[in-house]
Amino acid sequence: MRAVVITGGTRGLGFGMAQSFLKRGCAVTISGRTESSVQSAVAALAEGTPGGMILGRVADVASPGDTTALWEAAAERFGHVDLWVNNAAIFPAYGKFSDRRQSRRKRSFGRMLSA
Ligand SMILES: NC(=O)c1ccc[n+]([C@@H]2O[C@H](COP(=O)([O-])OP(=O)(O)OC[C@H]3O[C@@H](n4cnc5c(N)ncnc54)[C@H](OP(=O)(O)O)[C@@H]3O)[C@@H](O)[C@H]2O)c1
Repeated sequence: MRAVVITGGTRGLGFGMAQSFLKRGCAVTISGRTESSVQSAVAALAEGTPGGMILGRVADVASPGDTTALWEAAAERFGHVDLWVNNAAIFPAYGKFSDRRQSRRKRSFGRMLSA
């Protein structure tokens, strides 16, 4: 059994990847920033793949501690991690990066670099 971790699997592309991996018999761990988003995604995935091995965990990829805890939770539940998908990120508005406010620049880089 392959164990996959997808950061930001509560919706969008990450959720779609989670569905695909589950259908192929993989154990899947997803994350998101809120308990409610994670719980509803896990419920929807479980409904779509009855008996699927799914773990959901609140983890903000901008926090190194959360990211480490996410890995540890997946490894503890499924015994190992075979594949880590750095999916969670934000897709900032178009325009020159240098024109963006510093707080936005920090947020974008925080997510991409600490993931
Ligand atoms: N869709 C596109 O056309 C496109 C094009 C180019 C690149 N991408 C990239 O592909 C990835 C997914 O795109 P998408 O369109 O599927 O995005 P999306 O629908 O906005 O979903 C983003 C996912 O990431 C999670 N997330 C966001 N910030 C997070 C954080 N700090 N920590 C943990 N989870 C976080 C969200 O969960 P919560 O809200 O529950 O936290 C959600 O599950 C992104 O990296 C995006 O930049 C997408």
